[in-house]
Amino acid sequence: MNKKLRKTIIAGNWKMNMLASDLKAFKDELIPLIPNHKDWCEAVICTPSVLIPPALKAFNETGVGVGAQNMSQHKSGAYTGEISVDQLADIGAEYVIIGHSERREYYGETDISVNEKLLTALDSPVIPIVCVGETLYQRETGVTFELVALQVKIALDGVSEEKLRKVVIAYEPVWAIGTGKTATPEDAEEVCCAIRDVLAGLYSREAADAVSILYGGSMNDKNAVDLLAQPDIDGGLIGGASLKPESFAVIINAAR
Ligand code: 13P
Repeated sequence: MNKKLRKTIIAGNWKMNMLASDLKAFKDELIPLIPNHKDWCEAVICTPSVLIPPALKAFNETGVGVGAQNMSQHKSGAYTGEISVDQLADIGAEYVIIGHSERREYYGETDISVNEKLLTALDSPVIPIVCVGETLYQRETGVTFELVALQVKIALDGVSEEKLRKVVIAYEPVWAIGTGKTATPEDAEEVCCAIRDVLAGLYSREAADAVSILYGGSMNDKNAVDLLAQPDIDGGLIGGASLKPESFAVIINAAR
């Protein structure tokens, strides 16, 4: 399938960075650097949840969307401190990251809770970006493909082919996150292609070919062109480099 038929998404993950007072300067620097970006990609920034309303205001009519970094698996109820996907939709979040490795590592998220969150997200208008990826130990022991296939299969348990159309998958090797060690374009492509094969096995080749698969892990203004040129890489999930308007703009333009 021609990858141009899939949605290209360049998503920033700001993690626990930035303040409301930083938004205007960020927007003023970014927007002139990415004219007409809507012609080739969806640009989105996943901010801490409290920054979603001011970020939506700052990016109003710029074509840059705003997303969240986490959500509850529950629809509503007595879950102190949690945020539901309906609340995210209500304030205008377009995307939500689910199962980021930092949530798995520091907050006890599991493949099962990722599946629960995904099923809940798919009952809302918010587009889920599901993260999968192996640790360095897992890569070195040669279980990357089995591990990532397992993560994808459990995440998608109970998801219909119809609903799969709304799912975005991000392959983020844990050893490449925030370390400056990027997977080579060939290594990243190999796993993204394998993920697509898993989707084809679970659903159909046609359904698999329609899913956007992003790469994340030290993507920056230098390596983005080569990563984004790979046939099964449909965009990026970018941490550190998305905090700098100039480098985020280079990545957005590299997706052209
Ligand atoms: P870095 O781009 O800082 O490596 O972070 C990647 C990431 O975790 C995006 O979700």
